[in-house]
Amino acid sequence: MTASARPKSNIFLILGLGAIGLSTLMTLSPVHLLAGIPASQTAADGGPLAPTALRCEYLENPMGIDMAKPRFFWVLGHTERGQVQSAYQIVVSTDPRAVTGDVWDSGKVASSKSVQIAFAGKALESGKTYFWKVRSWDCEGRESPWSAVARFDTGLFNKSDWKGAWIGTKNQLRKEFALKGRVSRARAHIAGLGYYELRLNGRKAGNHVLDPAWTTYDKRVLYVTYDVTSFLREGGNAVAVTLGQGWYKSRALLLQLDIELEDGTAVSLASDTSWRAADGPIFADSVYDGESYDARRETPGWDRPGFDDKAWPAAEAVKGPAGVLSAQLMPAIQVVDTIVPLKMSNPLPGVYVFDMGQNFSGWARLRVEGPLGTDVRLRFAELLYDNGMLNQENLRSAQAEDHYILKGAGEEVWEPRFTYHGFRYVEVTGFPGTPKLDSIRGRVVHSAVEPIGSFAASKDILNGLQRIITWGQKTNLHSIPTDCDQRDERMGWMGDAQGTAEEAIMNFDMAAFYTNFVRDIRDVQDEKGRITDTVPHIWGSRPADPAWGTAYPLICWYMYQYYGDTRVLEEHYDGLKKYVEFLRSTAENGVLKWFNYGDWVAIEKCPGALTSTFYYYYDARIMADAARVIGKTADAALYDKLAAEIRAAFNREFYDPKTGNYGDGTQAANTFALFLDIPTEKQGGAWGRLFDDIVYKHDSHLTTGIFGTKYIMELLTRTGNSDLAYDIACKTDFPSWGYMIQNGATTLWELWNKREGPSMNSHNHPMFGSVGSWLYKALAGINLAPGTSGFEKVVFAPQMARDLRHASGSTRTVRGEVACAWSRTETSVRIEVTVPVGAEAEVVLPKLNIRDIQISEGGKTVWADGKFLAGPSGIAGAEDKDGAIRFKTGGGRYVFVLEGK
Ligand code: BGC
Repeated sequence: MTASARPKSNIFLILGLGAIGLSTLMTLSPVHLLAGIPASQTAADGGPLAPTALRCEYLENPMGIDMAKPRFFWVLGHTERGQVQSAYQIVVSTDPRAVTGDVWDSGKVASSKSVQIAFAGKALESGKTYFWKVRSWDCEGRESPWSAVARFDTGLFNKSDWKGAWIGTKNQLRKEFALKGRVSRARAHIAGLGYYELRLNGRKAGNHVLDPAWTTYDKRVLYVTYDVTSFLREGGNAVAVTLGQGWYKSRALLLQLDIELEDGTAVSLASDTSWRAADGPIFADSVYDGESYDARRETPGWDRPGFDDKAWPAAEAVKGPAGVLSAQLMPAIQVVDTIVPLKMSNPLPGVYVFDMGQNFSGWARLRVEGPLGTDVRLRFAELLYDNGMLNQENLRSAQAEDHYILKGAGEEVWEPRFTYHGFRYVEVTGFPGTPKLDSIRGRVVHSAVEPIGSFAASKDILNGLQRIITWGQKTNLHSIPTDCDQRDERMGWMGDAQGTAEEAIMNFDMAAFYTNFVRDIRDVQDEKGRITDTVPHIWGSRPADPAWGTAYPLICWYMYQYYGDTRVLEEHYDGLKKYVEFLRSTAENGVLKWFNYGDWVAIEKCPGALTSTFYYYYDARIMADAARVIGKTADAALYDKLAAEIRAAFNREFYDPKTGNYGDGTQAANTFALFLDIPTEKQGGAWGRLFDDIVYKHDSHLTTGIFGTKYIMELLTRTGNSDLAYDIACKTDFPSWGYMIQNGATTLWELWNKREGPSMNSHNHPMFGSVGSWLYKALAGINLAPGTSGFEKVVFAPQMARDLRHASGSTRTVRGEVACAWSRTETSVRIEVTVPVGAEAEVVLPKLNIRDIQISEGGKTVWADGKFLAGPSGIAGAEDKDGAIRFKTGGGRYVFVLEGK
C-alpha cells in the first residue's frame, strides 16, 4: 500500500504524526500506535472481520432499484479497537455467489469510506438481479474475509419497459394464463391505486398493506416489485388484484409479470382489457370512514386458476395517474404487531367495548361465528365517556367504523384491507351472542421502519416519555410522516415532520423513508419555488408557513448530518435554492413578516413574523452549509451573506433593548434567537430573561409551541443548564409531558391541555415528541461531533442532571451501533460506550464534585494525578477541560470508571 492510499483518519492527527517517520507509520495501525505496541506482536491473533449489514440505497436486498448509480453501505468489524478501514473492494455480479465481478469489480480502493459508495460498474439493466459482496483492509493492510453475498433487483428504468395499460373501476381484477414450462424467475411490478392487494394462485404476494405509498399522483406514482418465482407453476396460473380507493379516491391498476422459464423463454403478462373485473365483498372503503365487507359476496377461488369468470365483464381501461412511475424504495406499511385487548366491558346491552391498553394506528381483527347476514359493527376511538361508551368526538368527520356481514359458515375471521384507524378502544355491536376477549385483536399497522434506538433512565417519567414518543412516532408513519392517525386529517403536515425528524432518526431507521419524503416535498414545489403546508398537498396553504416549509431544507440537512448523505443535497440542491430564493423574494429588509401558524399550539405565543424570520435564517444557513458540502463555493458565500443580513435584520426588528427581550419576551421568542446564536454582544439580555421566565415565572414549565419546545431543551443543555432542562422534562403537572402520562396518555397529545371534546385535540400527535432527540443527546449523551456527518465522529457527553443515577441509549447508525450507558454514585462515574469500527469518539467524563480523581478503562489506569496514562488500545489521549476529563478514542467498546473522593 502506498502512503497516499492511507485513509485520512483523524486518529493519526490526534497522535501528532510529526514525530513518527513514514516507514514506521506504514507498519503500524492506529491501535498499535495508540497502545505503543509494534504491529507484528498482535497481527496474527486478530484482524478485520467480514463486513456485515450490507445495504443498497439504505435497504437490505432491495427490489426495484431504479437509479443508475445505487449506493452501497456496510458495517466494519474488527477484533481490535481503534482500527480504521484503509481500503475496500466491491464486487457486483450476475452470478448468485458474486464471484465473477462481471458487472463491477471496484478493485482495491484506498478509502476509509464504508457508507454512501456509489456504484460505478457497467450500466445496470432493467428487471435484473445483481449480487454483491465487499471486503475491507485495515490500517496495516490486513484483509478481511469477504462479506456474505447481498443482492438487489433493478426495477423498470424506462417508460417503455412498461407493457401494460391502466385498468380499473371495479375492485376485483383477475387474469388466468398458462405457462409452458417450469419457472426459473418471476417478478411482478405493480402500481395499484389507491391501494392494492396482489394474489397469485391463491396466495398474497408480500406482506405490504395499504400499499403503495401515498404520493402526489400526478407527479410520481410508486410501483412495487415482488419476487413471485415460487408462486407460479407450469400449466394454469391466476393473478388477482383487489383495489381500494385510499388517497387516490378511485381505482387503477398497472401490473406487469416478467417470467423466465427454465428453458430460457421469457414470458410477459401485463394488465389490459382482457382481464376480468367484478365488485367483490368490499362494498365501501375509505381511509377515514372505514371498510364494509359482505362475506356473502365472496367468490371462493377467484384468485386461483380454473375459476369460472364468464359472468365477469372485461376490465375497463382507465386514464391512470399522470405521474412518473418510480420504484417504492422504502419500508412498506405492514401489520407490525398484534395486540391482545386488556379487557372488555359491556356498558349497554349489546354494546361491547374492548380496551387495547394502547393508542395506535391500525385496525381490529374480528373472530365471530353466527348466522348468515349478521352485520357486526366495529367503531374506533381514542377516548371513552365516563359511562364507558365510546367517545368519537375528537375524530371530527372521520367515521372510523367497519362492518363485517357474516356468511354464516362456522368461525369467520376478518380484518379490513383498505382503511386504518387511530384508536385505543373498539366498540362492537351487532355481535351474535356475547363476544369474548378473543373475539378481537388489535393489529398495529404503520410503515415498517426498523426500530434502531433505545433509551432508558433511572427516572420513570422519562422512560414513560420515551414510550409515548416512540408509539406516537411509529404509528404516525404511514408512508409519509402524519400529524395524527385518527381524525379527518392524517396529513403530511411539514412542521410536525421537521420538528420530530431528529427524534425519529434516533429511534427508527428513517433513511429510506425520508429519501422518499423529501421527494414528496419536491413534487409539490411550483415554479416560484413555493411548497405547501402538507405534502402531498390537501390541507393548509401554498406557500407553506416558513416553519412548515423548512422541512425541505432541514430534513435534507439531517440526512446529511446523520447518514452522511451528500446525494440528497445534490439531488435537491436546485429545489432548496428555489425555495430559499422564494422566501427571499417575500422578505422585507431581511424580515419575513408573513406566517400561517407560527409556533403552533403554544401556551404563550411568540410573534409569527419572528418564528418565520428565525426559519428563514435557519434555511439560509443550511443552504450555505449544503453548498459548502457539495463544493458550490460561490453559493456558500452568497448564502453566508444572506444569513448575515437576516441575522442583522432579526436583531434590528425583534430585539427590544429596553426589556432585553426578543419579541414579546415569550420563552419561544428568546429561544429562537438564542438557539441559532443570533444575538451579538449588543443583545445580551435575552438569555437572562429566558431563564427568569422559565424558572421564576413558570416554575420550570414550558409555554412554548411545537418549535420552541424542540429548541429550548437543546439550548438549555448547550448553555450548561441541563439541570433546568431535566426539571422541565420531569414535571408532571400542567403543562408537561409528565402531565400527559399521568393523565393516561399512551401516545403524545396534540395539546399541552387535556381536552376530549369535539375541538382539535388529537391524543396521538407526535409533534411534541421532538424532546426525544434531547433524551438521546443530553441524557444518554450521544452526539454527532460538530461539523461531522454520518457518525464518523461521536461526542459522548451525558448530562448527569440532578438526581439522575443512570441513563443509557443506543442507536444503530450507518456505521454500526453507537451506544452509551452511564451510572454514578457520590464518588464515581462509570461510562460504557460503543463506537463503530472506523469511527472516532470523544468520551466526556464529568468530574461532578469528585476530588482526587483516578480513571480506569477496562481495569487499567488511564488517568491519575491529573494526567493521561497511555495503555489500553484505542485510546489516543485525554485532557481535563471545562469540568470534565475528555478521552479521545477510536472504534470499539470502552468502559471508563472514574473514582475519587
Ligand atoms: C395539524 C397540525 C398542523 C397544524 C397546522 C393541524 O390541524 O393537526 O399538527 O401542523 O394543523 O397548523
